[in-house]
Amino acid sequence: MPAVVLVGAQWGDEGKGKATDLLGGDVDYVVRYQGGNNAGHTVVIGDQKYALHLLPTGVLSPEVVPVIGNGVVIDPGVLLEEIDGLKARGISCERLLISANAHLIMPHHKALDKVSERYLGKAKIGTTGRGIGPAYGDKIARIGVRVQDLLDPGILSQKIEAALNEKNQVLTKVYNRRSIDPAKVLDEYLAYADRLKPHISDTSLVLAKALDDGKVVLLEGGQGNLLDIDHGTYPFVTSSSPTSGGACGGSGIPPTRLTRVIGILKAYTTRVGSGPFPTELTDDMGEWLRQTGGEYGTTTGRNRRCGWFDAVIARYATRINGVTDFFLTKLDVLSGLERIPVCVAYEIDGVRHDEIPMTQTDFHHAKPIYEEFPGWQEDITEAKTFDDLPANAQAYVRVLEEMSGAAISAIGVGPGRTQTLQLRPLI
Ligand code: GDP
Ligand code: IMO
Ligand code: MG
Repeated sequence: MPAVVLVGAQWGDEGKGKATDLLGGDVDYVVRYQGGNNAGHTVVIGDQKYALHLLPTGVLSPEVVPVIGNGVVIDPGVLLEEIDGLKARGISCERLLISANAHLIMPHHKALDKVSERYLGKAKIGTTGRGIGPAYGDKIARIGVRVQDLLDPGILSQKIEAALNEKNQVLTKVYNRRSIDPAKVLDEYLAYADRLKPHISDTSLVLAKALDDGKVVLLEGGQGNLLDIDHGTYPFVTSSSPTSGGACGGSGIPPTRLTRVIGILKAYTTRVGSGPFPTELTDDMGEWLRQTGGEYGTTTGRNRRCGWFDAVIARYATRINGVTDFFLTKLDVLSGLERIPVCVAYEIDGVRHDEIPMTQTDFHHAKPIYEEFPGWQEDITEAKTFDDLPANAQAYVRVLEEMSGAAISAIGVGPGRTQTLQLRPLI
């Protein structure tokens, strides 16, 4: 009855999509447990590239049941577009299960996300503008609209009416925006309801039975450890819990059933949006990493900020998530460098810190303390085993493993499904 969690160990975009897809052949269910279409998970199979936003990556593996758990916020229009897009490419989403308890992103959430960012000015979070924060805000305030409300037009109508009663005041009087017509929203969401009905399910019950039957469940995190609402670089975070603890709340699978936590770790660091990033490179080297690694957002197309590997945040990810194994991605991107700096600790106001500092003020002042390791010149994208890697690449992996505090069990040497070195089984 293994339930395995896969989490991003940095600020997102570590390669979770590729890692999930790789495990697709060995699992029965793939569950998204938080986030929404702020996520962009890329999978490359042969000459085909897929960018998944709301659908669990398992949808690409024909034997897998993809599940959208209760912890996800769903924009139904986006979900249906994604389903139609995959169908047009010959991929069926008929097996998809959607939790009746998941919350819906409504038009006012998207409007408020965009306008509140504009009001923050320089202090903006740099959100994806998909309505994620406002939707989770309403969930916590207990005024959200849930997937199950789509099954009861009377309730749906009441909830939309009540929400817009308040939100239209905010949109028009605080932000000087246009009000949203509840009747139009109701019509739009009733049309979504017709198409989504066959997928709506008591997913925590389905998953409990699956685990009882000895099936393998993979919980696919969105975002990453440092974007977690509690453990990340607040307020420059997303509004959900991508960490392994969040996998339980967001799926209904209890902690006692989790068997393994796989951290996805990029061989360097990237971040999209605002917020502190100690190893960020704003010079030509940063641009080189961006271009060589193709570091442009899958969801918004924004440039990703790039920097060297930060062992302090990797250790932090191990601690917060209980990482048992790391999947190190994008090692191939570092080929061709003479020397590779790795941040081993921070200097903050003259004091060395080996752990993430307690306060955000200190984290904003953190300067990386680097150790340099020799690079390698060989192209490693065709490597099949760890032994195929040049000695310096092997040594770099071993150093990262030691500093990060958990075994590196797989290594990505290219975006393709087959460009992975497996050091030990992950399931
Ligand atoms: P996710 O959000 O964590 O799923 O990551 P994204 O898909 O947003 O970004 C990761 C990018 O790196 C995608 O374009 C992947 O195709 C690509 N990728 C993943 N693993 C590797 C790897 O080992 N090497 C290279 N060169 N690219 C990779
Ligand atoms: P995947 O799953 C990278 C970032 C946004 C912003 C902050 C809050 O592809 O790794 P939000 O729209 O969630 O309120 O934005 O979080 N962010 C991501 N960064 N990868 C993601 O997802 C992200 N999802 C949100 O850029 O800084
Ligand atoms: Mg991504």
